[in-house]
Amino acid sequence: MAWLWFVLLCSSLCASPVLGVVGGDPAAPPEPDAAVVFTQRHGNSARIQGFKDDARGYYTFNGIRYAEPPIGALRFQRPVRRYLAGEINATSNCLPCPQLDPKGSGGIIGSEDCLCLNIFAPKMPGDEEGCPVIFFIHGGNFKSGSIAPYGGQHFTKQDTILVTAQYRLGSLGFLSTGNRDASGNTGLFDLRAAMTWINDYIEFFGGDRSRLVVMGQGSGGRAASLMGLSKETPREGRDATGVAALSGAPLSPGVVNSDPNKHAADKDITLDMPDTQAFLEEISGRAVPIS
Ligand SMILES: *[C@@H]1O[C@H](CO)[C@@H](O)[C@H](O)[C@H]1NC(C)=O
Repeated sequence: MAWLWFVLLCSSLCASPVLGVVGGDPAAPPEPDAAVVFTQRHGNSARIQGFKDDARGYYTFNGIRYAEPPIGALRFQRPVRRYLAGEINATSNCLPCPQLDPKGSGGIIGSEDCLCLNIFAPKMPGDEEGCPVIFFIHGGNFKSGSIAPYGGQHFTKQDTILVTAQYRLGSLGFLSTGNRDASGNTGLFDLRAAMTWINDYIEFFGGDRSRLVVMGQGSGGRAASLMGLSKETPREGRDATGVAALSGAPLSPGVVNSDPNKHAADKDITLDMPDTQAFLEEISGRAVPIS
């Protein structure tokens, strides 16, 4: 009987080491500090390459497009979502959305291909519980600003993920013709699309979407409050669980424009063409006043 016990013992004790060497060369072990995230959602898989800030010890993913570039026929329209697919190089910031040069040259800086977000994560996802997430909305009176100045060190030190997103500004983000052709507030819908993106993907970056606080400063604080109030933000327990509005509330001056058509006319975007669609097509290829 001794041989039987030996066989039984061996099949239980020896099994795992034996399995370990079957199958040829072992795969290269992952680099411990690799800032790479794999996602699988909406029928697409993606590999997102970011970088690790060794000095500050956090992982950064820059310039991820969360919506299609709002250009051509998509100008003045609500954002068209863009899903993560394929190889994505997330190592450089997008340009700001078009705005007057903050240095005062009188020119315009930025690009209309600006609907991007940045992610700052304290660690790469593991077995432990996901981190809380702050979605920060930059200020600038809905006319200026970008996500370029914001880094994640203060939040990542607290084991919290920071996401920042750009949204259309000025006329490109808020022009309203008072009808469905250009119903206005596309900048706010951009932010909503970014929140939906966060709900879809943040778990792959180590985030817990059930702990999502929308935060903003100035006009970003006003926008954050509106995100918290909106029926349009994702529901079913997946929406923001908190709002932190810094120097901005939903009824702060300048949030609500009671006469958007007059604004459009004041800005010399004349609306006397027979139909708005024709007007939008007419201006879709050229510069418009953006303030
Ligand atoms: C990613 O983009 C950066 C900046 O544009 C570039 O320097 C780098 O070579 C790119 N990496 C890959 C793998 O394409």
